[in-house]
Amino acid sequence: MSSGAEVEVIICADSAEVGEVAAEKIAGICRKAVTPVLGLATGSSPLALYAGLARRVNEGTLDLSHAVGFALDEYVGIDTSHPQSYAQVINTYVTVPLKMDPSRVHVPDGNAEDLYAAAAAYDLMIEESGGVDAQVLGIGTNGHIGFNEPTSSFSSRTRPKTLTPQTREDNRRFFADDEKVPLHCVTQGLGTIMEARELVLVASGEHKADAIAACVEGPVSAMCPASILQFHESATVIIDEAAASKLRLIDYYTYVARNQPM
Ligand code: F6R
Repeated sequence: MSSGAEVEVIICADSAEVGEVAAEKIAGICRKAVTPVLGLATGSSPLALYAGLARRVNEGTLDLSHAVGFALDEYVGIDTSHPQSYAQVINTYVTVPLKMDPSRVHVPDGNAEDLYAAAAAYDLMIEESGGVDAQVLGIGTNGHIGFNEPTSSFSSRTRPKTLTPQTREDNRRFFADDEKVPLHCVTQGLGTIMEARELVLVASGEHKADAIAACVEGPVSAMCPASILQFHESATVIIDEAAASKLRLIDYYTYVARNQPM
């Protein structure tokens, strides 16, 4: 049981269990809120978590019809009808299966004429919603959260950013061979993300092990933007054994057996 004053690490057997444990955690937060406000990551890592939430919605144990959602990021210049635009990804994996009201689910505008003004308006909209209750996060192999690449300011707000070659290479798998991976994005800032009341980061696989070790046990450094979680009062990192494999305090953390109540 965590005191809540540290990054709580929960180690699961595999990515399916990561999704299930994270879904129960997010569902619990949503059930307590009158109008839950969710921060939404895209990418592969949270898909099992969203599937777990969708199952609860279908079973009638969770109602997100009045919930509000804010995506973390969007590519710049991608058509919002492109299947890999985060507007589409969020609609496909979150809004529709979780039966959320599309007018309450927001994604940064990567096609705005003035990207900076649109990003500032996005931050304001988050603030006016009352703030994010539960922020879902993945982590890049280079330690990014959202698309806050290494050297991002810890006080940054939503803004346009350039993606690193590493991130573009990592995301190449989502695009067709003849397509370019976008070079720019709009992302919630680290300062924006840190205002969420609870952070829940999910990761699976050995390729995330270095980033997870740097995030949880490394020095707090802009070279690993996720290490800012060490400053949050309520951050939970839910990972499989492969992603946990480079943690030094491995025996100290919580292990979850499937179906064991948390
Ligand atoms: C995307 C985002 C990114 C991803 C990260 C990991 O909205 O926030 O930080 O979470 O790039 O991506 P996956 O899960 O595909 O490995």
